[in-house]
Formats: sequence, structure tokens, C-alpha cells
Amino acid sequence: MSYISFIKESVRHLRTTGTITRSSQEACKALVSFTDFDTARDIVELGAGDGVVTHHILKAMHPDARLFCFEVNDQFCQHLREIDDPRLLVIQDSAEKLEYYLEQNGISKVDSIISAIPFVAFSKEMTMDILTLCNKVLKSGGAFSQIHYSLVLKKVYKKIFGDIKIKFVLRNIPPAFVLYKIKDK
Ligand SMILES: C[S@@+](CC[C@H](N)C(=O)[O-])C[C@H]1O[C@@H](n2cnc3c(N)ncnc32)[C@H](O)[C@@H]1O
Repeated sequence: MSYISFIKESVRHLRTTGTITRSSQEACKALVSFTDFDTARDIVELGAGDGVVTHHILKAMHPDARLFCFEVNDQFCQHLREIDDPRLLVIQDSAEKLEYYLEQNGISKVDSIISAIPFVAFSKEMTMDILTLCNKVLKSGGAFSQIHYSLVLKKVYKKIFGDIKIKFVLRNIPPAFVLYKIKDK
């Protein structure tokens, strides 16, 4: 999808996209940097958009790994489905249904969750529900990472994940924070 088309689609659905720009290459690299791709076999991406982070994940992924990509926007899903990679499963549904789709694929825990869903556009309850679910399905030693443009939700993360670390990404519009957690073993 062209950059202009991405912006138009994002503006049209601003309440669900939460931003009008894609994550920069630096932000994508930061988001994927906490996953151990040598060992990760089941990986989840939340809020994939038209796939800017997805490509980084697929490039780093093991040949036997699978990527479950959640996205609610129809146009973005169409673009994601054009990615020719048998390891990718595009799920056009909300991150709230994460556990259901994993179960359908015979999975109870995953090695990594990489997310750009716009929690600031969600109710506090929905944010808590999705983050609690992420913590539940993440394996011990697995990695969770999420991009944000402010730290207003830091307390919520701490409540769910305990200690949460932050990586600042200056080269992004706007500059961003990647919140991440490597789950205790
Ligand atoms: C900020 S954009 C991120 C796009 C891309 N991953 C990036 O980093 O540039 C957020 C994406 O989350 C999607 N989204 C919003 N609510 C969602 C939900 N409940 N479940 C899954 N995806 C959702 C939006 O449609 C949008 O594509």
C-alpha cells in the first residue's frame, strides 16, 4: 500500500488506527528486537496495519515459525493477505479474540507478542483485558513489546506485567516509546 493510501485509510478510521503514520524503520527494529527469533516458533502481531512491522518479523523469523497477525481494518487485511509467505496467518478480528484463535490452531502459549494496537483509543477496561490476555498467553521467557507515543499507560502495564522496560525511539513520527517485557522464567 502506498504511503499516501495508508495515511488516507488511517485518517478515515482514526478512531481505530490511532495514528496517521506508519511506524518508522527504527521503531519497527525496536519492536522486534526483544524476540529471540532463533527459538521463537509461535509469534503474534497485534494491529499490523498494512504490514510495515510484519515484514520485519517475517524477515527475522525461523523457517518453521508461524506468525498470527491480528488486524481489524479490511483494507489493511487485504494488503496483508498479499504477502506471499506460508508462515503468515492474517486474522481479521480484534486482539480481544487472541486466545480463541490460538486455541483454534492448537496453541495455548506463544513465544512473542509484538503490538502496535492503539490502546489510547480504547477504554481502560478493553486495554486491561487485552494486556491481561497477552500476559496470560505469553510463555515464560517470551517477549512482549508495544509501541506508544506517550507513557500515560505505564501504570497499567506495571499492574499487569510487573516491571516493564522502555526503549525510546526518536526517529519516528511522533517520537515513540517501545514498552517491553521479557516474562520471568
Ligand atoms: C497505529 S496502527 C499500526 C500499524 C502498523 N503496525 C505500524 O506500526 O505502523 C494500529 C493498527 O491497529 C489496528 N487495530 C485497532 N484496533 C484493533 C484491535 N482491537 N485488534 C487488532 N487490531 C486493531 C488498526 O486498524 C491499525 O491498523
